[in-house]
Amino acid sequence: MYLHGTSRVNEKGNLEIGGCDVTQLAATYGTPLYVYDEALIRSKCRAYIDAFRQSGFAFQVAYASKAFCTMAMCKLVEEEGMSLDVVSGGELYTALQAGFPAERIHFHGNNKSIEEIHMALDAKIGCFVVDNFYELVTLDEIAQEREEKVAVLLRVTPGVEAHTHEYISTGQVDSKFGFDVQNGQALEAIKYAHESKQLHLLGVHSHIGSQIFEAEGFIVAIKRLIELLEEARDQHGFISEVLNVGGGFGIRYVESDTPLSAETYIKAITDTVREEMAQRQLPLPELWIEPGRSIVGDAGTTLYRIGSHKHIPNVRKYVAVDGGMTDNLRPALYQAVYEAAIANKMNAPATEQVSIAGKCCESGDMLIWDVMLPEADAGDILAVTSTGAYGYSMSNNYNRIARPAVVFVKEGEAELVVKRETYQDVVSHDLLPKRAQLQR
Ligand code: LLP
Repeated sequence: MYLHGTSRVNEKGNLEIGGCDVTQLAATYGTPLYVYDEALIRSKCRAYIDAFRQSGFAFQVAYASKAFCTMAMCKLVEEEGMSLDVVSGGELYTALQAGFPAERIHFHGNNKSIEEIHMALDAKIGCFVVDNFYELVTLDEIAQEREEKVAVLLRVTPGVEAHTHEYISTGQVDSKFGFDVQNGQALEAIKYAHESKQLHLLGVHSHIGSQIFEAEGFIVAIKRLIELLEEARDQHGFISEVLNVGGGFGIRYVESDTPLSAETYIKAITDTVREEMAQRQLPLPELWIEPGRSIVGDAGTTLYRIGSHKHIPNVRKYVAVDGGMTDNLRPALYQAVYEAAIANKMNAPATEQVSIAGKCCESGDMLIWDVMLPEADAGDILAVTSTGAYGYSMSNNYNRIARPAVVFVKEGEAELVVKRETYQDVVSHDLLPKRAQLQR
């Protein structure tokens, strides 16, 4: 198992993260438990910021809060001087409750409700990332009603899709997100926003995919965006102040993953922008990015307690833990792969191949297929690494399982940042009908 950040094996042969023995964390806070290495999150934030500082570009690094959105995380991001990408009233509310400066919040989403738009305007957020013509017109009208000028970016789809080691130049028009560049809708949206009295068009945005291990997809997308900006200048006199190239930077889930460093991505991005803008005599824009997974992904480890097992001779051995698809939906939803170790037997030789099952009533509730572990006993603590992104944020109450707690660990201290849900929490929104039949 790859040990990230401050993770190490201590003298007792136990896994330690942020100076805390995880078996102690499990005993104190219970399991399943999400443990975040705070120093590692902060160093990831700083790597992007330092890379941009070196480039000489004006920039904003907006953490994509969908990856892990809690008040503590918003606070940390604020302390690191970053901006924040939210995609719903709930994420916006979380950020505001944490005291996140509204002017550094960017509001995404392909179907913002009227209430969400008003909520964001009331809070005076930094900008809206407008996704479609309906939103463009609606926002224009609301801004007019409120007699406000609203800053916007337009999300455009440049026809590039990137996943892990491949990028595909798709020319695809079929996406629920954004204004298509190739069919002319992006240029039409730019014209509309640029001519609106109520909207202040800052520039354009694109997000080409997630868990990307190559810079090539970003380079191709940036070239298309800049061609679009050239047309926008030539045809409508629009000069972009901001270019937002989204998130998607890959992380290491398993030993064989080979993510690029923040510096490598940022250098490829800034070099391409500099070159392409110069070729067209366009002024350098402020550059924005939106990393989510690469800020929190490998800083998160989930601790489970091992319970039952089932051995099917000549087939496999299932080892079950006290969580599963309720706290990590990614294996079931995307066939995502993870590594694990028995946190209280880190020095024991891995002698058994087993598969880790969750406790939900669903055959697909498997966390890891075929992992080599030391012989597992009931009561052992299983640590699954790299669960920091889209684990807690996609957690759910299937089978009425209560959501786990979250702790941040740093220099030997652990701090509870999300309380464990109780059964009372789980039924707290249920109401018993007052109708007579149901009362008998
Ligand atoms: N910006 C925009 C506009 C996005 O749509 C996303 C992710 C990001 C930034 C952040 O991307 P990241 O750096 O985290 O890759 N639930 C899936 C991931 C969905 C990503 C959606 N958009 C998963 O667990 O893999």
